[in-house]
Amino acid sequence: MTTREMQDRIIELKREKDVCILAHAYQSHDIWEVADFIGDSYGLSVQAAKAPQSTLLMCGVRFMAETCKILSPDKKVLLANPMAGCPMAIQMNRDQALQLKAANPGLPLVAYINTTASLKTVCDVVVTSSSAVKIIGRMPEKEMLFIPDCNLGGWIAEQLPDKKLHMIQGGCPTHMRMTRQDVLAARAAHPKALLLVHPECRKEVVDLADYVGSTTGIMKYAESSDANEFIIGTESSIVSHLQFSCPEKRFYLLSKQCVCHNMKMTTLPDVLHAVEGIGGDEITLTDQTIRNARKCIDRMIELGG
Ligand code: 13P
Ligand code: SF4
Repeated sequence: MTTREMQDRIIELKREKDVCILAHAYQSHDIWEVADFIGDSYGLSVQAAKAPQSTLLMCGVRFMAETCKILSPDKKVLLANPMAGCPMAIQMNRDQALQLKAANPGLPLVAYINTTASLKTVCDVVVTSSSAVKIIGRMPEKEMLFIPDCNLGGWIAEQLPDKKLHMIQGGCPTHMRMTRQDVLAARAAHPKALLLVHPECRKEVVDLADYVGSTTGIMKYAESSDANEFIIGTESSIVSHLQFSCPEKRFYLLSKQCVCHNMKMTTLPDVLHAVEGIGGDEITLTDQTIRNARKCIDRMIELGG
């Protein structure tokens, strides 16, 4: 089967079986072409909640599929590749979060969306990279606990100087691999290029960037900018998507280390198998987990607008 034949079969089957395909920005271009919605973590969770189809197929990592299930408990939710999980999402569990809350009475617990459904049951608010500054800025509390990404937390704190975020060690192993040395080397090789990075990058990288934003934020910035050359400091797939959307512009990856193996795990045949009903992993969560985890996600949507 060629890529195009497989894509045609997926499109035919998703209509026949009433499946909505959601693809995170880090998925490959052949998957993007069969998706109903493409977006960053925030965009996908909002879109998933609105989708009219009876089945949601998440091409991304496990916490994203869990978020869909929490927002659409009556729908069948599938994760296209059962092995695709975000390593950051398992850096802290529910018991550790409860211990943290007990040690800091009165402080709200704010979690990055890259966390498990179980941990979300004890959080007060969830944020994503594109919504964090707006949401935390709108919270009435001045002081809070922020888990698990310290790079994202540090970047938010710099923009909201009247807020005090207590951060607990954690972060994205993919984005952590990019260093100041990589920036200096890329700037020397491409002196006219703008540097666009994700806030999961180290502070030493973020401090040297021309733009810091979510996966779709980086794409929109590059697409609408008058500049012609860009160094991209996030997962490698964003460079390839930008090469498709702006073939006249030049894009360079900040470091060849910036590959998220979990995001790369999902393939077009995985998507076909899932829509055929012979693949994917159905997400099941208890009613109690859904009820309790939903509160902090609803708060995210309410404050994120
Ligand atoms: P976005 O919210 O920017 O899509 O980021 C999700 C993610 O996993 C980035 O590493
Ligand atoms: Fe998780 Fe980082 Fe991969 Fe995003 S890039 S899914 S945060 S490991």
